[in-house]
Amino acid sequence: MGKKMRIGIVGCGTIGAALAKACLERFSEKSDLVGLSDLDEKKIEKLNKDISKDIASLSIDELIEKSDLIVEAASPIVVPELARKIIDQDKGFMAMSVGGFIGSEELLKAAEAKGVKIFLPSGALCGLDAVKSAGSTIRSATLITRKPPRALSGAPYIVKNGIDLESITKETIIFEGSAKEATKGFPKNINVSAALSLAGIGSERTGVKIVVSPDFKGNSHEIIIEGDFGELRAKTDNVPSPTNPKTSFLAVLSAIATLEGILKSVRIGT
Ligand SMILES: NC(=O)c1ccc[n+]([C@@H]2O[C@H](COP(=O)([O-])OP(=O)(O)OC[C@H]3O[C@@H](n4cnc5c(N)ncnc54)[C@H](O)[C@@H]3O)[C@@H](O)[C@H]2O)c1
Repeated sequence: MGKKMRIGIVGCGTIGAALAKACLERFSEKSDLVGLSDLDEKKIEKLNKDISKDIASLSIDELIEKSDLIVEAASPIVVPELARKIIDQDKGFMAMSVGGFIGSEELLKAAEAKGVKIFLPSGALCGLDAVKSAGSTIRSATLITRKPPRALSGAPYIVKNGIDLESITKETIIFEGSAKEATKGFPKNINVSAALSLAGIGSERTGVKIVVSPDFKGNSHEIIIEGDFGELRAKTDNVPSPTNPKTSFLAVLSAIATLEGILKSVRIGT
């Protein structure tokens, strides 16, 4: 068996904590959790208490230096600078805040040029396997996201347009535009549109529709793709994760499955 992969986690909230537990429980033979980083030191203390460990709290620079793979589960804001540092130091990067790469796609090119591995999970979305297969043969790609109104509270687009989410009583299209515009207007809510864009035809050509209704209990993501292969429709109806209603439980599972894919030798699916 080869050497264990040294893993450092940036962001110890819902997803980061689940990944830390997975490293220690399911993947302990292949991974070594070497450090944690968070803006909020209390999150690290709580996580260490939950897992009965004393994993080091490190600065971003220390974490990169000590890790083979840096896992981001913090915020899209941290992604560009973090990616730049990781690429410079030839480490691996798994980023949950996929939207952080929209507008900074040159970082993905830089990673490719240097042979640095970057992993972007499909999160709460399904169907990316076929989107990747179809690739440049895709003619149109649309994401329809359905959420309860409160899930969008605080989003820059809602604040800028003075939208009163409380007053919405029936199904309403709140946003229609490109994935590029969606990631700017809803940076915390729409990482899936970034993943779809990067797997398919880019953020300017990928369309996004966000529909809200008080009747929607969880978040649902539907993708509609047309291309030379025919048509693809794929939809998830997601249950929120127990500790963060904005994060679908499937996104947490996707993070763990992506890490498993990185650590394992056998890969299944596209
Ligand atoms: N790809 C997807 O489908 C998908 C799905 C859900 C969430 N996400 C993204 O993953 C990220 C984590 O989600 P979560 O549910 O675990 O969130 P969370 O709010 O539960 O946890 C985030 C943690 O990161 C920390 N943090 C915030 N900004 C930071 C910074 N600048 N530097 C260091 N730490 C910072 C917070 O203190 C918190 O502990 C979010 O950016 C979210 O948008 C992606």
